[in-house]
Amino acid sequence: MQLVSYQIHSRSELHSKKENHFYLRENFLMELINPEVQSYAEHFSSKEDELLQEINEWTLKNHTGYNMLSGHLQGKVLEMISWMVRPRRILEIGTFTGYSALCLAKGLAVDGQLHTIELRNDDAKTARAFFDRSSFSSQIILHTGNALSIIPELDETWDLVFIDADKPGYIEYFNLVLSKVRQNGFILADNIFFHGEAIEQDPRGKNAIAIRQFSEFINGRKDIEKVILTLRDGLCIIRKL
Ligand SMILES: C[S@@+](CC[C@H](N)C(=O)[O-])C[C@H]1O[C@@H](n2cnc3c(N)ncnc32)[C@H](O)[C@@H]1O
Repeated sequence: MQLVSYQIHSRSELHSKKENHFYLRENFLMELINPEVQSYAEHFSSKEDELLQEINEWTLKNHTGYNMLSGHLQGKVLEMISWMVRPRRILEIGTFTGYSALCLAKGLAVDGQLHTIELRNDDAKTARAFFDRSSFSSQIILHTGNALSIIPELDETWDLVFIDADKPGYIEYFNLVLSKVRQNGFILADNIFFHGEAIEQDPRGKNAIAIRQFSEFINGRKDIEKVILTLRDGLCIIRKL
């Protein structure tokens, strides 16, 4: 079965250079959103600013894991959510090259801070270099290391948390942060469809299984409300009651 990359339109020029418009399922990416709908939505949404566009293109050209980047539409949604919440404290788990952190930072309160955690040194360095070129440089605190050990050391009350690191860690990240999220604060969790694999009757890959377990875990809870947006690879918005 051949499937079209969901990033095909926002990155069509660069993609065509790489001749990888189409992906087999084995190649990880799976098209979930109709490409015409994606293209239409991108066309009628505000554009990425220059720095975000540069991060997007730099990541595509230089990073084998470029498909992990949130991208234009999801980035705008993160930015809008952040503007709606006007958070004083944001926690992001999984910085990568810094794209989503900069989207979320746009809605920070004037005295707000965003803490973001990245396991890999190289990605953390790349992200820091991009952060330092933005107007949010002093408001973004980048931690390099394993989120599982860094989160408990952060003495903050979170208004907004974005979980976007390794999928088998999602339940633990949720458990670590929930008590530190303020009442009516939000947790966002990315890749909730895991390229369509989590939707299958019996998910097989370890990431798809972990994502399904996460969805089942939060589904039974009475202390949160949640909704899944059919955006990109599925974005779950959770409100702490
Ligand atoms: C999907 S990418 C994040 C994408 C980014 N949020 C964006 O939208 O541009 C996931 C990142 O989480 C990092 N990661 C994986 N396990 C981690 C851990 N235990 N602690 C911190 N970061 C981790 C990976 O190195 C990777 O850069």
